[in-house]
This record gives sequence, C-alpha cells and structure tokens, in this order.
Amino acid sequence: MTARFPAARPRRLRSTPALRRLVAETRVAPADLILPMFVKEGIDTPNPVSSMPGVVQHTRDSLRKAAHEAAEAGVGGLMLFGVPEVKDERGSAADDPAGIVQKALRDLSADLGGEIVIMADLCLDEYTSHGHCGLLTPSGDVDNDATLERYASIAVAQAAAGVDVVAPSGMMDGQVAAIRTALDRAGYTNVPILAYAAKYASAFYGPFREAAEGAPQFGDRTRYQQDPANAREALREVELDIAEGADMVMVKPGLAYLDIVAKVAESVTVPVSAYQVSGEYAMVEAAAANGWLDRERVILETLTSYRRAGAHQILTYWATEAARLLR
Ligand code: PBG
Repeated sequence: MTARFPAARPRRLRSTPALRRLVAETRVAPADLILPMFVKEGIDTPNPVSSMPGVVQHTRDSLRKAAHEAAEAGVGGLMLFGVPEVKDERGSAADDPAGIVQKALRDLSADLGGEIVIMADLCLDEYTSHGHCGLLTPSGDVDNDATLERYASIAVAQAAAGVDVVAPSGMMDGQVAAIRTALDRAGYTNVPILAYAAKYASAFYGPFREAAEGAPQFGDRTRYQQDPANAREALREVELDIAEGADMVMVKPGLAYLDIVAKVAESVTVPVSAYQVSGEYAMVEAAAANGWLDRERVILETLTSYRRAGAHQILTYWATEAARLLR
C-alpha cells in the first residue's frame, strides 16, 4: 500500500484483547438478563422439556432453587410462567389466588424479594382448554374485550401474590390500559407493566408450547399476534402501549426481528427488551449437540447482537449460564 497520507488501519485497535475490550461499543451485563421459568402444578420432580435441553418445568421447590441460583449469578429478573393441572374455557387457574403462579410468586417474593425483579407473564394460553390467549366467541374467534376483563383480574391476582412487574403477552387491543386501570383501582399503582408490545405470530415459539403446554387446540394466533411481514405496525403497537401506560416494551422474537428491536429502540424513551425465544434456544442447542457450533461463543454472540441492536434487557433461557460467563 502506497498512500500519500498515513494509511487508516482499523486493525490496529483489534490487535490485543485489552484494546478490543477498551473499544468495545457494546457490553452485556448479567443485570440486563431476564430468565423465563416454568412452574408446573402437581409434579414432584422437575420435568425436562425435550425440545429445550437444559430447560425444565419446575416444581415449586426446584423453582426456588433455580431462582436463587439466577439471583446469585447476578441475573436482573425472572419471568414466570405457570402450568396448571386443570384447564378450562376461561382459564380460571390464571387468577385463582391458590393457582400455581400465585403460589410460586409468594414463594419467590418471600425468598428473594428485592434481590431480583420478579415478573410474571400475563396471558391465558397456558390456562385455557383451547390454548388460545383469550376467551372465545361462539364462532371460535378470540373475544378481545371480554378477554380484557380476564387480564385485569389476573394482574390484580399476580400483584396480590407479590409480583414486581406484570408482563401482558396476549396481544389484545387495549390490554395495557385495562391492566393499568385495574392495578391502580386495587391500589397497586407502583407495579410496572412490561408490555409484550410487538409480538409476532412466530413459528419460533414451537418448543415453548411444549414447555408451557399452551399450544392452540385449533387454528393459530395470526388473528391477534403480528404478521412477520410488518415493521411499521410494530411502531404503532409500541406507541399505543406506551400511551396506555406501558412502563417498558418488548419485541418478540428477537434474533429474526433485530431490525424491529433497532427501530423500536430508536423511537421510544422507555426501556426496550427483546425475547430470545424457545426456538432460538433450541436451534443453538441442537446444532451444538451435533458439534456444529461453539455453543458458548454463539450464546454470547447472540446476546451481544441483541444489545447492539438496541435492546436494553434480554429475556433468555441461558440467563444464569450467560451471567456466569459474563462475570
Ligand atoms: C404466550 C407466550 C408465548 C411465549 C411467551 N408468552 C407463546 C405464544 O405466544 O404462542 C413464547 C416464548 C418462547 O417461545 O420462548 N403466553
């Protein structure tokens, strides 16, 4: 190279680990991570989820232990999903004070209150016999406004059980406003809402449906979750949720939607999280089990990509392990 001026050599700043660390534009901290966890009613031993090696449906006891380990590793938050023994048309177990999630929330807030942020997914699909995220009309569509009343009641039940943050994931129109109103009326003005604001109808949720036992028994979720073809619509969903009182917003899934994460992060001033969903986890675990990928490097690279795209918090089934790797 014969340049008339000193050549630009970006490689200079890559020449030692210390230099690379110094100039890194993106960092992932354990506190940015949120661990999704499943707790199942009526089991004595944890139940492995076959499509998510390393993930289990917890008993109340094993949940407490795993939550402690996450807190110990410095993980920022937990996202709890309940799997009830009995399901019915209206998902009655979801807001039952004696339901599995409410019991688990009481356990966790007694054990760990203040040490880690305890969140709960607020939806009906794990609780309904038909597996949809809301109540059905006689013709089998999901009834938006009737469902809002159920969500309001679940929010109050979770708050009464000690949840720190509620996270509505059902993609009903007006859900954030309905939940905010109900929480405020019940005196839970300080419980924030993390809205699954831009949630797509994604095939990447496949393994989750085994973990949470919430597969729709007929049809799919395309009439309430977003179409993967749409990006601007995500901004509209986010805008509405913030106007309705969302304290934080989420994009889901993450890896195939990092463009959405970036757009949302640029357009709002509330914290933005992204969910590294079950299918992303399963793909990496399966490839790593075959020796086709360097598992730890891929985990850290994906988490870095989420942060680089602009996500502030990341929901990931690897949260505890990643937190340990990052310390
Ligand atoms: C709905 C919900 C789902 C996930 C989180 N909350 C499933 C769905 O919408 O069908 C998926 C999470 C994952 O795949 O890891 N309660």
